[in-house]
Amino acid sequence: MLRRFSSVPARALRSQRAMSTKVKVVLTRSLPEQGAKLLKEDDRIDAITWPEDSPCDRQWLLENVKGASGILCMLNDKCDEELIKAAGDKLKVVSSFSAGVDHIALGALKERSVRLGYTPSALTDAVADLTVMLTLMAQRRGGEAMRRVMNGDWPKMPWSPLLLCGPQITNSTVGFLGFGRIAQATLARLLPFQISKALYLGSRPGQPAKEDFYGLVKDQKIPIQPAKNAQELAEKSDILIIGCALTPETKHLVNADFLGRMKETAVIVNIARGPVVDTDALAKALNSGSIFGAGIDVIENEPQIPADHPLAQEPRCVLLPHIGSANTETRSLMAEEAVKNLQAGLFGGSMVNEKTL
Ligand code: DGY
Repeated sequence: MLRRFSSVPARALRSQRAMSTKVKVVLTRSLPEQGAKLLKEDDRIDAITWPEDSPCDRQWLLENVKGASGILCMLNDKCDEELIKAAGDKLKVVSSFSAGVDHIALGALKERSVRLGYTPSALTDAVADLTVMLTLMAQRRGGEAMRRVMNGDWPKMPWSPLLLCGPQITNSTVGFLGFGRIAQATLARLLPFQISKALYLGSRPGQPAKEDFYGLVKDQKIPIQPAKNAQELAEKSDILIIGCALTPETKHLVNADFLGRMKETAVIVNIARGPVVDTDALAKALNSGSIFGAGIDVIENEPQIPADHPLAQEPRCVLLPHIGSANTETRSLMAEEAVKNLQAGLFGGSMVNEKTL
């Protein structure tokens, strides 16, 4: 009896101690299975997750982030100064389930020595695949053709030699605005289509690419060269692929002047961030026929895009709701990596991908 009495409080004490040493993290969304499992199995972590299947409510987040050591967020959660301040001094890591980090106040993290994890390598292939799909759809009028069939127009448009014709990809010069991992993976996929040349504009105009992820620049199977400036990229590209990060320098880089320099047969594809492109200027360029078409996965003010939005109305614009990385395997890997980054930030060690601040 005595032994039983004395052992119970000791166990309770031990488990209380274990509870108190857990670190609090806040998740703005439930994760796909692999990531959720990894997190659940980690008994050092006390995870609080936004319970709804919808974007995290800001007030809920500001309330629940207090005292958190880690935040795991999505690309549509603003991780700004206000949120970081609300978390308080214990905050050690922000882990973003995304490649882009434009929703995060990098300066505020740096100031407080908070580490930032993100998931760029997990989604390279998925986004590169979608970029090829959008390129072909924009050139070959895939969106417009489908829309017409679904509108019941097919009986009024029997096969004819020039029905729904567009430019061919063979012999195209492909311009890359931003020449990182996704852009280079896209180029690798486009080479078998016998494109003739690639031009790129990175953060150092006219300079060779800093990283040659797949050895394509070294191989030069086709000429792959840096553009001198944005004007040259606009003027020479048959296909313009936008894959750069959104920064104050890249906001509206593709504007009326840029679009006005493009060929009438050119298409643009945006898989980066909406605000790199000036939406009004793009709508005007498409409407006036000063460029041929567009493939858009990201757009300014998404997801507030009504059916009568000028780009949704534009027949030569293929408009997708930001599904670049949306294949099951990729999202599962992103979840796993986001949790691993979170754990590294909380307990030490290297992240799968850490953003240098
Ligand atoms: C990201 O994760 O930043 C991308 O937008 C995926 O498409």
